[in-house]
Amino acid sequence: MNDQTIEVHGGYQTEQTTHAVIPPIYQTVAYEFDDAQHAADLFNLAKPGNIYSRLMNPTSQVLEERLAMLEQGKAAIVTASGQAAITYAITNITKYGDNIVSVPQLYGGTYTLLTSLLPEYGVEGRLADSDQVADLEAKIDENTKAIYCESIGNPAANIVDIEALAALAHKHGIPLIVDNTVASPALCKPILHGADIVVHSLTKFCAGHGTTLGGVVVDSGKFPWAKYPEKFPQFSVPEKSYHGVVYNEQFGDLSYIARIRTVAMRNTGAVLPALSSFLILMGLETLSLRMQQHVKNTFAIADYLKAHPKVAWVNCAKYEDSKYHALAQKYTKGTQSGLLTFGLKGGLEDGIKFFDSLKLFKRVVNVGDARSCCCHPASTTHRQLTEEQLIGAGITPELIRLTIGIEDTEDLIADIEQALAKI
Ligand SMILES: Cc1ncc(COP(=O)(O)O)c(C=O)c1O
Repeated sequence: MNDQTIEVHGGYQTEQTTHAVIPPIYQTVAYEFDDAQHAADLFNLAKPGNIYSRLMNPTSQVLEERLAMLEQGKAAIVTASGQAAITYAITNITKYGDNIVSVPQLYGGTYTLLTSLLPEYGVEGRLADSDQVADLEAKIDENTKAIYCESIGNPAANIVDIEALAALAHKHGIPLIVDNTVASPALCKPILHGADIVVHSLTKFCAGHGTTLGGVVVDSGKFPWAKYPEKFPQFSVPEKSYHGVVYNEQFGDLSYIARIRTVAMRNTGAVLPALSSFLILMGLETLSLRMQQHVKNTFAIADYLKAHPKVAWVNCAKYEDSKYHALAQKYTKGTQSGLLTFGLKGGLEDGIKFFDSLKLFKRVVNVGDARSCCCHPASTTHRQLTEEQLIGAGITPELIRLTIGIEDTEDLIADIEQALAKI
């Protein structure tokens, strides 16, 4: 199936007891065992089946399968938020003393996860000086367990060279983890370019309507954990917390997701509620359609801003003089999704005036909503960062981030026009 068909049908066939055409919301905590032997088989992972909704839920399973199909991965697990997905993706393969090497252009929450929270548990998030291979390689040592990047960085709107980063990771026997939130699987498929693991905040374009938090970890099933038993003992030695299962032996290329489910999710429980899975499934049905309108509006607004005398710069990969133009052609269908950053000639002060004057755009920190949104990262999402850290993350004080919704193009431009006129 192609994307637009997967978005509507993937992972679900008419349910055979009720003949429900739409995936039902299985609002249940537990699932009844036939007898003691059935329970034992399920707990021993000898038979597939549902046990308890902290481990699995049939509504969420449809979403997991649909997302794995859209990302061309092998398996997926949905989580309560994007941050939970990123946390699990990293902690599933790291332990005290390890590090992961990341590009510096990151979503603010990921930045603090890598540089503040995980280090408290002995896992260092090492930020490279740029998203270039040489800068990332300079940070890799024998304790590095993954390379991390965002396919389209939020808010910097940089586009990374996924193939080059995957080649670097594989040269060092480690996986590449890509946050594909901003691009969405409709515009970019990191696994097809060599990424091993993809994470998403489903809260954004995938759910698409600003209603629901959610996250997902999708595994390509391609990284050879068994080839590196010393580097990744999690998959080759008996798992103490799950009656001695050896993931490589029992799960093969499903090991990575199986371990998140039975260790991280089972013990820390950042579960996506069934109702949220349902809402995200409904959002996904129109993902490709919505992305077309997000991109059309983004390009039109970029053109408008570029021609405006009060605008200093516009970062849009559509223009041939953009340093991301070629990467966008290769990885993101020539776009930077619905994310558009620009700076006003009047700097920070005029940026704030513009922000305060918007009427249709929502002043929020969210991205990827059907509604157009505006944010000033230096004073909101990234406000804990020093000026030096801000520049490393690709954020200048005057940078304004728009995420363009699916409204009528003319109405959006009219709102920007009246806000610019207030300066
Ligand atoms: C690129 C990216 N990754 C992860 C997240 C975190 O997602 P959530 O808010 O669902 O935890 C965000 C949130 O804005 C994001 O933009």
